Amino acid sequence: MHQRKKKEPSSLSTSQDPPMPANLIKSVTRFPPCFKSLLLIFSLLLNLYLLGNLWYTFAPPPPIISRLAASTTTRRHIVFAIASSSLSWPRREPYVRLWYSPNTTRAFAFLDRPVSNASSSPDMPPMVVSADTSKFPYTFKGGLRSAIRVARVVKEVVDRNESNVRWFVFGDDDTVFFVDNLVNTLSKYDHEKWFYIGSNSECYEQNVKNSFDMAFGGGGFAISHSLARVLARVLDSCLTRYPHLYGSDARIYSCLAELGVGLTHEPGFHQVDMRGNLFGMLTAHPLSPLVSLHHLEAVDPLFPHMNRTQALEHFITAANVDPARILQQTVCYDRSNSLTFSVSWGLAIQVFQGKELLPDLLSPQKTFMPWRRSSKVDTHFMFKMRDYPRDPCKRTPVFFLESVTSDKRGIWSNYTRLDVENCFEFNATEQLKQIRVFSTKLVLDSERMKAPRRQCCNVLPSWNDSMTIHIRPCGNDELISMHSETPVFS
Ligand SMILES: *[C@@H]1O[C@H](CO)[C@@H](O)[C@H](O)[C@H]1NC(C)=O
Ligand SMILES: *[C@@H]1O[C@H](CO)[C@@H](O)[C@H](O)[C@H]1NC(C)=O
Ligand SMILES: *[C@@H]1O[C@H](CO)[C@@H](O)[C@H](O)[C@H]1NC(C)=O
Ligand SMILES: *[C@@H]1O[C@H](CO)[C@@H](O)[C@H](O)[C@H]1NC(C)=O
Ligand SMILES: *[C@@H]1O[C@H](CO)[C@@H](O)[C@H](O)[C@H]1NC(C)=O
Ligand SMILES: *[C@@H]1O[C@H](CO)[C@@H](O)[C@H](O)[C@H]1NC(C)=O
Ligand SMILES: *[C@@H]1O[C@H](CO)[C@@H](O)[C@H](O)[C@H]1NC(C)=O
Repeated sequence: MHQRKKKEPSSLSTSQDPPMPANLIKSVTRFPPCFKSLLLIFSLLLNLYLLGNLWYTFAPPPPIISRLAASTTTRRHIVFAIASSSLSWPRREPYVRLWYSPNTTRAFAFLDRPVSNASSSPDMPPMVVSADTSKFPYTFKGGLRSAIRVARVVKEVVDRNESNVRWFVFGDDDTVFFVDNLVNTLSKYDHEKWFYIGSNSECYEQNVKNSFDMAFGGGGFAISHSLARVLARVLDSCLTRYPHLYGSDARIYSCLAELGVGLTHEPGFHQVDMRGNLFGMLTAHPLSPLVSLHHLEAVDPLFPHMNRTQALEHFITAANVDPARILQQTVCYDRSNSLTFSVSWGLAIQVFQGKELLPDLLSPQKTFMPWRRSSKVDTHFMFKMRDYPRDPCKRTPVFFLESVTSDKRGIWSNYTRLDVENCFEFNATEQLKQIRVFSTKLVLDSERMKAPRRQCCNVLPSWNDSMTIHIRPCGNDELISMHSETPVFS
C-alpha cells in the first residue's frame, strides 16, 4: 500500500506539473527581493497542497465489508419490463439497445401484437405479447385503452416467476436507463420491504393533473419484488375502479395507494416532460446519480453538430466510463483570472467571467420548453430557473465533451469550445479552446449514496488555449467558493 502511494503521485506530478504562467512571473519581478522569497515559499506550499490533494484522490477506496458483499444488489437482480407496441417497437429498438445487454441485464418487452419482421436478435430483450384486456373498462375521453394493457405489464412480468429478482423496473420503449446508477440507487433500499421508487414530472401542471406523488412511467419506476408480488395479485381488481384515469402509471399509482404504499422520490429518474434544448436541466443535475432519461426523440440532440443518435451514443460512451459521475456538477474558481467554471461531467463546461455563487449555478438555465405545445396557460416547472439569454452572443462560453479516455491512474475528459459566430467575446477566455478534466472513477457504495456530497475541483494554474481542471473530493470543511479562507480580521 505504501509503495503504491509513493509511486502514483510522483508519476502524476511529472506529467502534470504545469509551467509557471507568464503573468505570475511578470508580477513576481516587480516586487522587492524579500517579497520574492515569500512568494516562492507560498508557491511551494501551494504545490505541496495540490500534491496532497492528488494523494487524497488516489487513496484506495475503503474496503468493502465481505459480510455485505454477499447481499449486494447487482444488475442481475433487476428485471426490466418495457412497455411497447407493435407500432413503436421497430422505431424504439435503438433506444433499448443503448442500455440493454443480454449478458448483464434481464428484460422483457411487452407488445400488443407480435412484430412479424422485428429483428428477434439475441442481443435484444425477448418480446412478450400481452394478454387481452378488452374486458376492462376505459372511459377517459380521447385517451388510449392501451393504458390498461401497459398497467397489467406489472402483473404479467411478476407472473413469469423469474428467479432471484429483487426489483422490477418499468419503463417505456423510449426510456433510456443508466443501469449501474439504477443498481446503486436501489441498493439504498431493502428489497424485502415494500418500495415504490421513481419521480414525478418536471412539469407542475402534469403533477396537478395526476399526483405529485406518482412515479411517471416514462421516467421509469422500481417496485420491490415483495410489493410487486402483492400488487400483481390485486391489480385486476384495482383496474376496474379506475376507468376514468388517462395513463397506465396513474392506475399503478392508484392501486399502490389502495395498498397503503406511497412513492419514494428519487430525483435521478427523468420523465422529461419538455422539448427543445435540455442543456439547462442536464447541466444542473441533482446530486443523485442519473438513472433515466425519456422523450429523447422529442428534444434537440444533446451535443451540437451531431444528430440525436450520434449525440446520445457520445453521451453514453462517457456514462460507461464513469457512470456515477455522469452529469455531476462541480464548480471551481480561477481567482487570478476571476473566472468561474461549472463542470457538468460528461456533457459540458460553462465558463463565467467573474464570481458566480455556487447556489446560483445549481438552478437550471431555462433552455427548454414545456412538453405541451398548445398550452394556453403558462407552464410551470418544478424548479427555480435562471434565464438563458436568447442572444447567443450574450451567453457564457460553453465547452462540450469531445472525448473520454481512462487508464489506471484516472480519467481524462476533454471539452472543446462551441464557437458562436459573429460574437465579440470577452477577453479573459478569448483564446481558450479546450478544457481537460482529470478525475478518478466515482465509487458509490450504499453508505455514500445515503449521504452524497458534491466534489470539489482545482483549476491548475496553466492556461493558454487549453487548460486543466482536476476534480477531487472536497476537504473536510472546504467550501466551494472563490474566497473560501476564513477571513482574518485585524
Ligand atoms: C455474452 O456472452 C456470450 C456467451 O457467453 C459471449 O459469447 C459474448 O461475447 C458476451 N457478450 C458480451 C457483450 O459480453
Ligand atoms: C417492418 O415493419 C415496419 C413497421 O411495422 C415497417 O415499417 C417495415 O416496412 C417492415 N419491414 C419489412 C422488411 O417488412
Ligand atoms: C408461476 O407460478 C404460479 C404458482 O406457482 C403458477 O401457477 C404459474 O403457472 C407460474 N407461471 C409460469 C409462467 O410458470
Ligand atoms: C446520424 O449520424 C450518423 C453518423 O454520421 C449516421 O450514420 C446516421 O445515419 C445519422 N442518423 C440519422 C437519423 O440521420
Ligand atoms: C485529452 O487530454 C489528455 C491530457 O492532456 C490527452 O492525453 C488526450 O490526448 C486528450 N484527448 C484528446 C482527444 O484531445
Ligand atoms: C478587451 O481588452 C481590451 C484591452 O484591455 C479592451 O479595450 C476591450 O474593451 C476588452 N474587451 C472586452 C469585450 O471586454
Ligand atoms: C501557449 O501557446 C503558445 C503558442 O501556441 C506556446 O508557445 C506556449 O508554450 C503556450 N504556453 C503554455 C503555458 O502552454
